[in-house]
Formats: sequence, structure tokens, C-alpha cells
Amino acid sequence: MNNFVISGVKMLKPSGEVEIANIHVSGDKISKITRGEVTHDHIIDGKDKFATPGLVNAHTHASMTLLRSYSDDKSLMDWLQKDIWPVEAKMKRKDIYWGAALAAIEMIRGGTTAFADMYGPCMEEVAKIVAESGLRGSLSQGLISFADGDKKLASNVELYKNFHGAADGRIQIMLGPHAIYTCPPDYLKKVAVEASKLGAEIHIHMNETQTEIEESIKIYGKRPFEVILDTGLFENGTLAAHCVHLSDSEIEIIKSKKIRVAHNPGSNLKLASGIAPVKKLLDAGITVALGTDGASSNNNLDMLEEIRLAALIAKVESMNPLAVPANQALKMATEYGAAALGLKNVGKLEVGYKADIVLWEMSGVEWQPNYNPASLLVYSANSSSADTVIVDGKILMQNRELKTLDAEKILAEFKACANRLTGKDS
Ligand code: NI
Repeated sequence: MNNFVISGVKMLKPSGEVEIANIHVSGDKISKITRGEVTHDHIIDGKDKFATPGLVNAHTHASMTLLRSYSDDKSLMDWLQKDIWPVEAKMKRKDIYWGAALAAIEMIRGGTTAFADMYGPCMEEVAKIVAESGLRGSLSQGLISFADGDKKLASNVELYKNFHGAADGRIQIMLGPHAIYTCPPDYLKKVAVEASKLGAEIHIHMNETQTEIEESIKIYGKRPFEVILDTGLFENGTLAAHCVHLSDSEIEIIKSKKIRVAHNPGSNLKLASGIAPVKKLLDAGITVALGTDGASSNNNLDMLEEIRLAALIAKVESMNPLAVPANQALKMATEYGAAALGLKNVGKLEVGYKADIVLWEMSGVEWQPNYNPASLLVYSANSSSADTVIVDGKILMQNRELKTLDAEKILAEFKACANRLTGKDS
């Protein structure tokens, strides 16, 4: 059983204050937080380290790492239809596995401890990587109604039955209807019925581009959230990625159905989708988490970048430098991220919470002078400061050394898969 103390570490408290403390870990939980001298058989020295809850990537497509730098600088639809979907159609089981394995390395090295993934088929391969890496994963199969839509739904249901709660509860399964433009209302009704039978939550892309809204109004006479509200899809708990273009009545639907939003600033900027009204959503009491989206629309899985972008963009979007201060941006990637994924007792450094902890190395010059570690993490540091990553009390990386994954082997297998798929030589 895991049993150790992180001693004398600067710790981010849920209140946003920072204090020097000893974090005691027993099993999968934070069992005690003490001050002053500590003696223990297993001590991790917390000197010059900043302890935060693990970062939660609330929207990604992990195996899309395979398509990083394959196609850039295009409109969302051109990019998806002409470049991405044709290559994805060729992906085999092993591609999903090695793509997710590389993503897991990137996430752990950047201080991410949990992620919400939508991809597939073969999401059981991503589940395997979650189990092996020690990360937490909320996985869903991306469902598109045309070309075997019913079969895909059945396979997502199967995934739920086989994996929900697996790996000591680190694996959660959601149903993943891709978006309104790939899943018409009749299909979403079927997904809603299956979700309600299982008690499964939903992960979906919503209101990402202006075109999506215009099409919805043209075809259904209503905006996307209004169309989907009538299908019953929002009844079991929903994680909605993007939510860039929203009317006031859609914000009301998000609020009343307790829909959690995954804001993806990097992807929204790169695809020129627009800027989500994050301050307005947070002010309305809506849970807004952060995600990277897939690595080919970002182009990395670096959550610290998303935290910084979220804080900066929200200020410009609201023309208010007080909007989304550093501590709130950090909460979006930790506490709110955990809530967005439906994780219980995750996302805070507090006694009784899961020991999902990142220790950031603060000896680098970008951390000096060190008046406010939270501000330094958000506005100054980069993700290579992640030194030690702990999930469920288990150490996945220490002194930047990976403990659960073989990076060399993964990189070789990953490159072979990417080159075969794209017909290029990297
Ligand atoms: Ni996405």
C-alpha cells in the first residue's frame, strides 16, 4: 500500500492560499495534512516544490497524437472531412493503443492526471493504457450516426458494461455522440435511451463554430442546445466541449441541466472557431473546465498552456483584466475539471480526497522571485516544471522519470503507426 509523506512543500489550498505543509498519503488518499517537522519511513522532500491537485484535461482525443502536424491551418470542416477522417478511417486497434500511449506520456510529463477522451472505435485500447499508465480516464466512443451508427452505439454500450469502474475506479465510461452535425435528433434520442438505461453520462461537442449554429437553425429552426434538449440527451449528466457560440437561452439550458463545459482555448484559436464567453459562464455558476482537444488541432496536450490561454483570453473577451485570475484558471483545470468528469473526491488537496498530486519544481529562473507560486505556475512556468506526478497515491513520475510507461518503446511503435497511416516518413 502507498504510504508516504511529501514534506515541507508549498501547497495550494482549496481556498487559493499557499502554505508550507506535509501531505500524508495512505493508500489512494490524502490521509493527513500537517505542519512543522515530520518523521516517516518514506519521505518525498518537498523543498522548492509547489504541490497542486493533478491537472484534468476535460476534452481530448488522445490517439489523435498520430495526426499531429499532418494537417494544419484549415477550416474545421475542411480539416475534418478532407484530411482527418480519411486517415482515421484506416486506424487499426494497435494505432489507437500506441497513439493513446504517447498521449499518456505527454500528459504525465505535463502534470495531467485525468482526461476525458472521445475517439474510437477500439476504445478498450485506450482503457488498457489508462490501466497501465496509472492515469484516470473518462472514455467515450465518438459516435457518428451515418455508417453503422447503431453498431457504434452498441459498441459504446459494450465498452460501458466492460470497463466502467475498472482499474480501481480510474476508468469511467461515457457515451460520446460526436456533435449535432454528425448525429441528427433521432439518433441522439437512441443514445439518450441507452444512457438512461445504463446511468451513463454524455460527452459531446457543442456550438463549436458559427456554421454549426447556422446549419442547426436552417435544418431544425432552433439552436443546437434547444434541438438537443428535446431529445432527452441532457438528462443523465453531460460534458459539453467547446460551447463557443451561445445564446442566453442556451446558457439557461446549460445551467438548468447542470451541463459541464470543457473550454478548449488553444483549439478554438487555431481553428478560428471563436472565443467562448467563459467569464459569463463562470459568473452564472456553470462548471467550466479546460481541455486541449486532440493533438492535431492544438497541437499538444499541454494543460498548462490551456490554463494560461484561458486566463488571458477571458480578460480580452470581457475587456476586463480582473477576469479569470490565476487561481480561478487553476481551479478550472483541477477542481472544476474533476467535477466536469463526474469524479468524486478528486481535484483538491484536502484530507479524504484522492491523492492526485503534482509537484512542480520551482528552482528554475522562471520561478524567481517566488512571491506567488500559483501566479508563477499560470503566467510564467512551463509544463516541464512538472517533477513528480501522483494518481490514486501511486507515483507515475518522480524527478521527471516515468515509473509506469516505457517511453522509448512507445515512441518507436507510435512512429511506425503514424508513418503507416499517413504514408509519410517522420
Ligand atoms: Ni474535440
